[in-house]
Amino acid sequence: MSALLLLFIVGAITYAVWKYYSFTSKFPSGPRPLPFIGNVHQVDFASKRFSRFADKFNGLYTLFTPIATLEITDYALIKEAFIDHGDDYVDRMMLPGMEKVFNYCKNGGVINSSGDNWREQRRVSLSILRDFGMGKNVMEELVRNSVAEYLRCLANIKDKEIVNMRWPIQLMIANIINEVLFGYRYKYDECDDLINYVEGFNKMISELATNKLLPLAIAFPSVKYVPILGYYAVEIHAENVRKNNEYIVRNVAKALESFDTEGDPTNFVHAYKQRMSSNAYLDQDNLIATCADFFSAGQETTTTTLRWATLFLAKNQQAQDKLREEVHRVVGKERLPALEDKNKMIYTQATIHEIQRLANILRLNVFRKTHQPTTLAGQTIPENMTIHADIHYVMWNDPHFENPKEFRPERYIAEDGKSLRKELVERTIPFSLGKRACAGEGLARVELFLGLTATVQNYRILPIPGQPIDLTQQEQTIGIPIEQMLRLESVL
Ligand code: HEM
Repeated sequence: MSALLLLFIVGAITYAVWKYYSFTSKFPSGPRPLPFIGNVHQVDFASKRFSRFADKFNGLYTLFTPIATLEITDYALIKEAFIDHGDDYVDRMMLPGMEKVFNYCKNGGVINSSGDNWREQRRVSLSILRDFGMGKNVMEELVRNSVAEYLRCLANIKDKEIVNMRWPIQLMIANIINEVLFGYRYKYDECDDLINYVEGFNKMISELATNKLLPLAIAFPSVKYVPILGYYAVEIHAENVRKNNEYIVRNVAKALESFDTEGDPTNFVHAYKQRMSSNAYLDQDNLIATCADFFSAGQETTTTTLRWATLFLAKNQQAQDKLREEVHRVVGKERLPALEDKNKMIYTQATIHEIQRLANILRLNVFRKTHQPTTLAGQTIPENMTIHADIHYVMWNDPHFENPKEFRPERYIAEDGKSLRKELVERTIPFSLGKRACAGEGLARVELFLGLTATVQNYRILPIPGQPIDLTQQEQTIGIPIEQMLRLESVL
């Protein structure tokens, strides 16, 4: 009897293992997974890096985390997937049971939605932003106003020997998206509400990064129903997101108080509300979810990039001098830089590419999933497979970038000294590629150009004597720098 039982158990395990490996064989090959736990033991979740096997598998492999995740670390393959087969890779991966952690409403907004709702939310949002002049003069004016206010804030800092650039930059950037969405700006000395949001957002991403139970809940979604364990694995994050979204709910309601069906819309909320009557995809929940997406994506990313910029320039005085020399030569010292200056400023363009490449702020790109069965590099990729296009790996490891950890804007400048090296620019992909690439890229590029040039036009950024610049990147989804003090010296 016991021999029979043993035979049955061994048979059942053998069958389950065989089933598991016949399941894993449907995906492009990668490091050999262990039955049921997959490659969990080989993935460094803490550092937010999935790229350990990039060389061994030529830039394309499956990691079972334990969900089957296609890791793409090669630029040409990311391009093949997201541009040549763009429609196949267009959906957003949403883990079962995680909607309420990452989204205001089910399949709502732009970042975490898929299908027709995503298409419509993204199309309408971009059309509203274009109406407000994204990439054109109106938006430029709004950014310049924020830059001017930021410069006034720097000028008012009494002790420039020890300056924390974080909040001036954060407020400059957050005020822009706040004004676009809700139609008003904060004064620098009356912005507690905004600071609370930013601190809440940072707490949220830091807890997401450090929570050891979350990967467990991702692997086994039913964990969220286990008392106590479920709370600390999932619900705690959902609570953080809900708390942060209260800011958005409040501001949407406030903006709607002045809504007028007939008048020309002056902010995103009004423009969206006006379009609701003629578009069935637009409703109150999606309005809030979309504002939440643009607000969160629209401030921490650009702020973090500009914070890195100050550190790279403080550490690389020669590059900073060259940048300033170009700004003073093209723009002068009397007026704020403008977008029309950009074409004449090749070193500045190169510097911004180098800042974005080296800052490489998204340690994990936003995950996608395949919309239908497709192919990549001749291999079959099944429907609904999770996709991670590792833009972070490309920008720090692609062989086109010689000594990739070195800050050297010159690398982007072609031999003629007047143009940029196309093969490097196209591999600099902080905004990702294809139909789901960053929806705020146009605005972010304006903010980076005007924010950076205005700073060096006015100030030399220096390290504090005896305190070397620390370029350690925090291991969170957004690679934020360590907060540190700098010295500002007026150059006007
Ligand atoms: C330096 C600044 C920024 C960087 C590096 C950045 C990067 C990214 C990346 C990598 C994605 C994911 C793309 C993909 O799925 O392949 C993304 C998505 C998105 N970004 Fe940005 N972003 C920045 C600034 C902004 C700004 C200023 C806004 C808003 C005004 C914004 C709004 C969005 C939205 C709404 C999405 C979701 C797009 C979709 O799923 O269709 N981002 N961003």
